[in-house]
Amino acid sequence: MALREIRIVGDEILRKKSREVKEVTPRIKELISDMFETLYKEEGVGLAAPQVGVLRRVVVIDAGVEEDVKKPMVFINPVIIEMDGEQTGEEGCLSVPDKSCKVRRAEHVVVEAFDEDMNPFSIDAHGLIARCLQHEIDHLEGILYIDRVKEQEAEEKGE
Ligand code: NI
Repeated sequence: MALREIRIVGDEILRKKSREVKEVTPRIKELISDMFETLYKEEGVGLAAPQVGVLRRVVVIDAGVEEDVKKPMVFINPVIIEMDGEQTGEEGCLSVPDKSCKVRRAEHVVVEAFDEDMNPFSIDAHGLIARCLQHEIDHLEGILYIDRVKEQEAEEKGE
């Protein structure tokens, strides 16, 4: 395991779309364990592969920092298949240091993904985990939460 360098806003890799993972190679396994090590070191809740400079559709989440129970979750090729409700809460991002903003997100999502053995699974998530999944899946599309903040501010002005 090794720590990976977190890419910071302004780095164009954060703006690129990530590619699907076809097979969990030893390299992908190493990426996942490095992403967890990096996440824990930085005390984050979630991390997407492009944040460590790898354009693959891999997300790791552990809300243990917020909820006191470590629960590492790996999502390969995650897709949101349902979303509803609304929640507004403070978000930060390891790629946007020393900043946090209120963001509006769906309160509930259903996500389909593959686990570390490429077995498909789905998760029905509310609250923090739902927020986190939306934030991390945005990273795979090159979208940062600060873009959502801008969009939402513009919407409110237009109303
Ligand atoms: Ni982020």
